[in-house]
Amino acid sequence: MSSVEYLNYELLDDHGWTLADENLFEKARTAELPEADHGTIEVDEDEYILEAMEATGADWPFSCRAGACANCAAIITEGEIEMDMQQILSDEEVAERNVRLTCIGRPGAEEVQLVFNAKHLDYLQNRVI
Ligand code: FES
Repeated sequence: MSSVEYLNYELLDDHGWTLADENLFEKARTAELPEADHGTIEVDEDEYILEAMEATGADWPFSCRAGACANCAAIITEGEIEMDMQQILSDEEVAERNVRLTCIGRPGAEEVQLVFNAKHLDYLQNRVI
């Protein structure tokens, strides 16, 4: 079982936060955001993060659910998300920019922090369907 803390990318601009902020999640915790935008859930190691969120009633973006678009993309800022086979993200996006696809991604660490709704990032726009 892993603890997955999430934050909505769409809020960053409004608050003057960026993905590079070292204490991004600390800021999110003190901002008292609605549960739809920030919170923590427990996810099994064999469970996809998107599905685990949907089971809580969350409405995260997706399209193909098969690792073939960027709709469900998230950025990990802590921990790891292990993905099934995917062909849409470059090695650089995975290794350097920490992009992961939540529809085919399972927690790979006890504690994970991710920023969902990353499909709004400019460099992912061309793969959003
Ligand atoms: S929904 Fe298309 S890769 Fe996840």
